[in-house]
Amino acid sequence: MSNVVIVGAQWGDEGKGKVVDIYTENATEVVRYQGGNNAGHTLVIGEETTVLHLIPSGILHPGKRCLIGNGVVLDPKVFLEEISKLKAKGVLEDDRQLVVDGNVHIIMPYHVAIDKAREAASSRKIGTTGRGIGPTYEDKIGRRGIRLADLVRPDVFARRVKELLPEKNQILSFLGAPPLDEQEILDEYNEYGSLLQTYLGHVGLTIDRAIKNGENVLFEGAQGTLLDIDHGTYPFVTSSNCIAGGACTGAGVGPGTIDEVIGITKAYLTRVGEGPFPTELDDDNGKHMAEVGHEFGSTTGRPRRCGWLDIVALKEAVRLNGMTGIALTKLDVLTGLPTLKVCTGYSYRGELLETFPRDLDVLQECQPVYEVLEGWNDNIADAKSIDDLPPVVRTYLDKVAEWAACPIVLVSVGPRRDQTIQLKNPFGA
Ligand code: IMP
Repeated sequence: MSNVVIVGAQWGDEGKGKVVDIYTENATEVVRYQGGNNAGHTLVIGEETTVLHLIPSGILHPGKRCLIGNGVVLDPKVFLEEISKLKAKGVLEDDRQLVVDGNVHIIMPYHVAIDKAREAASSRKIGTTGRGIGPTYEDKIGRRGIRLADLVRPDVFARRVKELLPEKNQILSFLGAPPLDEQEILDEYNEYGSLLQTYLGHVGLTIDRAIKNGENVLFEGAQGTLLDIDHGTYPFVTSSNCIAGGACTGAGVGPGTIDEVIGITKAYLTRVGEGPFPTELDDDNGKHMAEVGHEFGSTTGRPRRCGWLDIVALKEAVRLNGMTGIALTKLDVLTGLPTLKVCTGYSYRGELLETFPRDLDVLQECQPVYEVLEGWNDNIADAKSIDDLPPVVRTYLDKVAEWAACPIVLVSVGPRRDQTIQLKNPFGA
């Protein structure tokens, strides 16, 4: 029996969806614990691509239970649309497969409007996804949020909207955006409330019962370590705790519940939105990564910034998450590059830094110090085991694991499920 957390070890978009989908074979429950529909997990099964923003990627496996923990912020419209799309594909035949915790905070229309208006008005843009994530978490921490348990009770919900909306409209007016109408919100959201009633549950208790029943639980992180509100490159971060510790607060389980933490790492690095990125490339190598890796956001369609793998940042992720393994994704994207660079240190004003600086001004000034490795031209997309990989590729993997001081437990060599090499199964299977 094992409970495993999957986290993004970079700035998000590491290919978590695919890894979660694979590990779901070994789990009974798959739990999202933070973030909202700012995430986008792309799953390629057979010839079919599915993009999920809120519902755990495990939903595509019949019989698995998908839970949305209290740490998530939920846009009911997006959630219900996702359910409809899945049902149209013949997935989610049984509604009991999906449980949303009553303490989940609801993304309201004013959260989305404020997020967009703030970004538009700001001289220091974060480059948010415009999904209302930050303003919803602000209200949660400010103790003026609306939770799912409130939304499903029309009288409570109406009272909360009446109390909250005047202030939100003042903020919108200050930001130069039009006000929102109370009745329109009530009409739209009351409908959502009645539809969501079906999925309302207690995620922490559900997990506890599952574990006592000898079942395996998979916790599915969204975004990535360097976007964590406390430990990421603040303020260019998201508004939740993306690190593995977030699984405890965001799902309602104790730290002792977690057995393994697998950090998903692309074989290179990408970032969407603003903020420092020491290994960012503005050359043909970066273009190769963007084109071959299809580096466009699955939520906003924005082009992702690309750069070499950064071990300084990866070591930070190993430490912050207590990572017990690395799942290295998109290795095939590097095929065809004559030489590969990996950043193993930063040069800052003549000094060599081997740990990730907390000070953003320092990070902005850091120049990457690279190790140069031989590239490969062989097609690795059909490799089924580590022995199928050419020695030059295995050297690359060995070096990454050695520099990061963390074993590689999975290597992804293409978008499909079967393009995966598992070296160690964190569930012990
Ligand atoms: P927010 O989460 O929409 O508030 O955006 C804050 C920052 O996090 C922006 O730089 C976004 O581009 C980034 N971000 C949010 N979600 C994701 C994600 O799933 N992948 C990558 N970046 C993300």
